[in-house]
Amino acid sequence: MFSLSPKPLSPSPFLHLPHKTHKNLYPKPPQFNHNNSPPNDPIHKPNHHTERGIEFDAGESFFRSESATGRDLGVLAAALYRMSTGGLRVLDALCGCGIRSLRYLVEAEADFVLANDANDECRRVILSNMWRVPRGLGGEKRWTVTHFDANRLMAECYLQRDFFDLIDVDSFGSDSTFLRSALNVVKLGGLLYVTCTDGFTSGGRRPYHSVASYGAYVCHVPYSNEIGLRMLIGGVVREASVLGYRVTPLFSHYSFHGPVFRVMLRVNRGKLHNDRHYGFIGYCTRCGHSQTFSWDKLGGINCPCDKENVLGSLNVLGPLWTGPLHDTTHMTEMLKLAEQWRWTSSGTGLNLEMLLKRMIDESDPELPPGYIKLAEITRVAKVNCPPIKTIMSTMHKEGYAVCRSHIVSNAIKTNCPMATCVRIVKELDGAQ
Ligand SMILES: C[S@@+](CC[C@H](N)C(=O)[O-])C[C@H]1O[C@@H](n2cnc3c(N)ncnc32)[C@H](O)[C@@H]1O
Ligand SMILES: [Zn+2]
Repeated sequence: MFSLSPKPLSPSPFLHLPHKTHKNLYPKPPQFNHNNSPPNDPIHKPNHHTERGIEFDAGESFFRSESATGRDLGVLAAALYRMSTGGLRVLDALCGCGIRSLRYLVEAEADFVLANDANDECRRVILSNMWRVPRGLGGEKRWTVTHFDANRLMAECYLQRDFFDLIDVDSFGSDSTFLRSALNVVKLGGLLYVTCTDGFTSGGRRPYHSVASYGAYVCHVPYSNEIGLRMLIGGVVREASVLGYRVTPLFSHYSFHGPVFRVMLRVNRGKLHNDRHYGFIGYCTRCGHSQTFSWDKLGGINCPCDKENVLGSLNVLGPLWTGPLHDTTHMTEMLKLAEQWRWTSSGTGLNLEMLLKRMIDESDPELPPGYIKLAEITRVAKVNCPPIKTIMSTMHKEGYAVCRSHIVSNAIKTNCPMATCVRIVKELDGAQ
C-alpha cells in the first residue's frame, strides 16, 4: 500500500497519521461533543444549522441543507471503510464550511481529515466548526485546514506521496479536472466520492461538452438523470484506466436539487473488464425501447422495432458506465449501519431508509441502464395507468427483473422490453 510518508516540506497539510485499530465493529450512534466552543468573532453573522445532531455554522460559505443525504451516504461508506481497514484518512478537497469534514471526524471517526477550500474567506467558519473536535498534536493531529486550489493541493500530495483512504470532491458543474488528480492520491482499495451538478449536459443539451468533460456523447433520453450518473462514472472509468486502475461504483445518488449527481467509487489496480460495463446505450425515439451495445457492435445497431434501420430511430449515447449503479453487498452494509445508528427510524430517517432500500433493489445486475416512466408506457398503450405494484408483480411473475427507481418515483427499472411493458399494461387495463 502507498502509505510512505517522507518528511513533508510544510508541516501542516501533508502529515501522515498511523492507522488506529478499531475493535468495535458495531459502534454506538455517533456522539458529538458540544463543549468545545467555536472562537468568538463579533463581526461575523452566524448561520447555524444542525445535521444528525451536529451543530455547525455555514457562515457565508456555499452550503445546501438538501445535500445532507449525500453527506449521510458519504459518512456511512467512510465508517464502513474504517471498520474494515482499521484506518481512515480523508481529503475533503472542496469543503465549503467544513460540515463534511466535521461529520467524517465525528461520525466516521476518521483518524485525520484535511479540510480544503480555495476560498480563504471560509477559513474562520471552517475553523469554528472543526474546532469542536480536539485537534491533537504532531503525528496525532486529527485535522488541518488549507486554502489551495484542489488540483494544486492534490498534486502536492502526490509529489509528497501522501495518500488518502477517501477523497471527497464536492465540485460544481461538470468540472472533471479533479478526477485525475484525485485518482493520483487515493490509496489502492480506497474510495473516491465524485460530483457533477451539470443537468444541462446530462440532459443532452450540450453533447460536445459531455465529450470534453467525460469523453461521452450524451443526447436527450427520458432517463437523463440516470444518464448523468453513468456519464460521471464513465468519466472516472476512463481517467482511471489511463493510470492502470479499475473503479467500481459502491453507490450512485441523484438528488433533484441542483441537480446533484454523486458517486462513491472504489479504486483498485486493474484493467477494464473487456469493456463489459463501459459501452453504449441506444434509445429508440419511436417505441421507447433501450438497449446496451459493446464497442464491437457499434457498426450494426438498430432497434428491434426497425429491423432494416430504415427509420434511423436510435439515439446512441456513450461510452458510459452500463453496469450496476450500486454494489449490493456494500449497500446492504450501509443500510445495517444506518439502522444501528438509528438514522432510519423517524423523520428524514425514513427517507434515508427508503432510499437505501431502493438503491439495493436497483443494484440487481440483471437490470439494464435506464428507467421507464409509467406515463411513457401508458402513453404508448393508450390506457389508464394500473397501480405500479400490480405492474411490477406481473413483470416478476413473467420472470423479469423489476424495481422502482431512486431517481423518479413513478418509474420502474426493468429488463422487460418496452413492447412487453405495453402489452402487460394493456392486459391489466383490460382485466379491470
Ligand atoms: C459545493 S461547495 C462545497 C460544499 C461542501 N462540501 C458541503 O458539503 O457543504 C464547493 C466549494 O468548492 C470551493 N471551490 C471552488 N473551486 C475550488 C477549487 N478549484 N479548489 C478548491 N475549492 C474550490 C468553493 O469555494 C465552494 O466552497
Ligand atoms: Zn424501437
